[in-house]
Amino acid sequence: MAPAPGPPPRNPFRPTFGVSPTVLAGRSSLLTAFELGLAEGPGSPYRALIISGARGVGKTVVLNELEDTALRQGWVHLRAYPGPEMTATLVRTSIPELLDTLGSPTSRRMLTGGSIAGVGSVTAAADPAHRAPEPTLITRLREVARILAPRGAGVLITLDELQSADPGHLHDLATAVQDLMRDNHDIAFVAAGLPAGVADLLQQQGTTFLRRAHRVDLAGVAPAEASRLFADTAESGGRTMSAEAVAEAVRLSHGYPYLMQVVGSMTWAQANLQGADALTAGHVRKVSGPAIERMGLQIHAPSFQGVTGQQMRLLYALAELSPDNGPVRTGDIAARLGLAPNAISMAREALLRRSLVVVPSYGHLQFALPYAAHHLLAHPHLRP
Ligand SMILES: Nc1ncnc2c1ncn2[C@@H]1O[C@H](COP(=O)(O)OP(=O)(O)OP(=O)(O)O)[C@@H](O)[C@H]1O
Ligand SMILES: [Mg+2]
Repeated sequence: MAPAPGPPPRNPFRPTFGVSPTVLAGRSSLLTAFELGLAEGPGSPYRALIISGARGVGKTVVLNELEDTALRQGWVHLRAYPGPEMTATLVRTSIPELLDTLGSPTSRRMLTGGSIAGVGSVTAAADPAHRAPEPTLITRLREVARILAPRGAGVLITLDELQSADPGHLHDLATAVQDLMRDNHDIAFVAAGLPAGVADLLQQQGTTFLRRAHRVDLAGVAPAEASRLFADTAESGGRTMSAEAVAEAVRLSHGYPYLMQVVGSMTWAQANLQGADALTAGHVRKVSGPAIERMGLQIHAPSFQGVTGQQMRLLYALAELSPDNGPVRTGDIAARLGLAPNAISMAREALLRRSLVVVPSYGHLQFALPYAAHHLLAHPHLRP
């Protein structure tokens, strides 16, 4: 008797956010440069990085990879969380916990409820009359750096969703990082966020240091990398994906990381439904509609929230002039709206700032993400 068939192999694609993929596509030059920057010493521009990119392009995944890169070199890492308590959480919780794992005597005293809250307060401890000053981000980070220095290691601080950070807290953090760098400590800082939010924050007072940080504009991945991603991910899950299926999936997903995972995941599911072992071009074609729809729900729908009527009219004109998301002359958009070209310049600027459109070449506009035109045309109720 033939053995009963086991359950189908688990889907190796990750059609979600913030979860590292089974196979990472692209990004190797950034990771290599960062690795070298940590090994190089203070002064490497890769020790202060600001990563910007559209929703779902892979910012959080890159941050995770950079953290892993640092850990492999013996560095420690701290995550800052944007929000009303960003600085306080670092000073009162995250850094004391880190100090404790590093075996710092100061932190142990602090955590066991001693009255000395300060860092580096050994002499103060001997003299109870002499109260230690309140710890600050700088004093805390200096303590971390002092412990790590003899080990030849440093500390990496990461901040995701940079656009949601409070400018004052960002200033505290940037000042602390800059202060330690100036003293030749091994410290690195990497922040990631949506382009418009990052640009706004960098306009704020007190962010000069961040304005000098090395900027990385994260884009989708090249077709060769995308091909490798599909073939290798399927294989890691125990299935083959035919060359024709890979080519179809690459064409459909435009090298955009979130969509690559969605297309791969749905193709895998379709093969399950058809009881197939290998992933074929037929499976990919069968899921193309639902995959584009998922992209619309998860990426486009939220990104059009809060867009004004005038801006939406411009977007619909762009979509109608190029339903497959190609570049369109700005003059043609204005003409379609029955307006003079300069009458749409404010809406155009606002849409660029929101990263909904890009300027592919002089005098042209194009949607920033694949299938944006498709989404608008399929949802006429969004039209003002
Ligand atoms: N380089 C990559 N190779 C393969 N898959 C990737 C890559 N980067 C991201 N992904 C996949 O795309 C999904 C989206 O990535 P991620 O959550 O990092 O995007 P994001 O830019 O942080 O999005 P958001 O702006 O919504 O926070 C991830 O769950 C991951 O599976
Ligand atoms: Mg993210």
